[in-house]
Amino acid sequence: MVSSSGIILKSNTRPAFHTVMQNLQSNTITHQLKENEFPFPVPPRKLDELEKVKLIESCTHKLKENNAVLIAHYYTDPEIQSLAEATGGFVGDSLEMAKFGANHSSDTLVIAGVKFMGETSKMLSPHKKVIMPTLEATCSLDIGCPAKEFGEFIAKHPERTVVVYANTSAAVKAQADWVITSSIAVDVIEHLMAKGEKILWAPDKHLGGYIQKKTGADMLLWNGYCVVHDEFKHQALLTTKALFPDAAVLVHPESPDNIIQLADHVGSTSQLIKAAKDLPHKQMIVATDKGIFHKMQQAAPDKELIIAPTAGEGATCKSCAQCPWMKMNQLENLDSVFDQKNLSQSSLAQSNLAQNSNEILVDKELIEMALRPLSRMIAFNR
Ligand code: 13P
Ligand code: SF4
Repeated sequence: MVSSSGIILKSNTRPAFHTVMQNLQSNTITHQLKENEFPFPVPPRKLDELEKVKLIESCTHKLKENNAVLIAHYYTDPEIQSLAEATGGFVGDSLEMAKFGANHSSDTLVIAGVKFMGETSKMLSPHKKVIMPTLEATCSLDIGCPAKEFGEFIAKHPERTVVVYANTSAAVKAQADWVITSSIAVDVIEHLMAKGEKILWAPDKHLGGYIQKKTGADMLLWNGYCVVHDEFKHQALLTTKALFPDAAVLVHPESPDNIIQLADHVGSTSQLIKAAKDLPHKQMIVATDKGIFHKMQQAAPDKELIIAPTAGEGATCKSCAQCPWMKMNQLENLDSVFDQKNLSQSSLAQSNLAQNSNEILVDKELIEMALRPLSRMIAFNR
């Protein structure tokens, strides 16, 4: 069945015309995408201190004036994170951001993160206005999992429960049984395994491989990756560990297996911050986006934080442990988002016409479909 949004609908009874491939091995990556090019955005202009102060003042005023709340991810710049907290907003991991937005009384959510985070917030709060400093802030995992190809992939495996990472488009989520974030990934897969379910997982091959190893679940993996975490280097990390022999290694599970193997703690961004605080080590080598250092250092002020190396000797890094799309969230575009027309009007949830060009709008049908797996995630985490 194909919806009016053009995606293949998943249902318990899959359409007969889809070929069922019975002889697949579990724990194998069967879907090979073509070599993906991820065009990095132009890095933002550096602001001087006076510009920053003025913009912070202006954004604070505009957030209040528009009854808007700022919700930021840990990977955004420290000024954005501080502004969110100073104005009664929130900084957190992707699951916490979604929950905070859904529970907050404000009728306008300003999401400083990447597009899937804005979409998730919109789907959980369809009657609120959800805006972002830029709609260009995407994610390599989202880019690497187009909805149509993903639909064709799952149609070949009707016996599998479809579990997708939150780092996907609304159109991919709409085809899933479950949406999960890294903070609850292992628990959800264990829960499904206990019910005897076989899993089809997308899009992150590293996170999928980690969950598979940890749980022993029967998982078929899509071949996506995060450009930031994929760059951490095993040999260089060994060298860093030798330089700091007493340091604990903290790793986000979007990193390759040979990095995860060197970890003292693996977890979502929030879980890594907690580990930095709780572990007895005085030094931490951190394998995730370095934007996390802002909150991590606040949580563990007495600890020395060292970024894990992203390139071996003589090599160059592309992201250099900094997500180029998270970096697009800047005070300047945050400030100008409020100047766009009609922001103070109530949400247009029932309409598809954006009154603010940075407003996140999701097709009503997609919202209905994606809410099923999203609600499971929220209910599971209660
Ligand atoms: P968290 O869910 O851990 O915040 O991760 C989101 C993300 O995009 C990591 O790269
Ligand atoms: Fe996506 Fe990686 Fe950026 Fe996270 S760090 S938003 S997974 S590209």
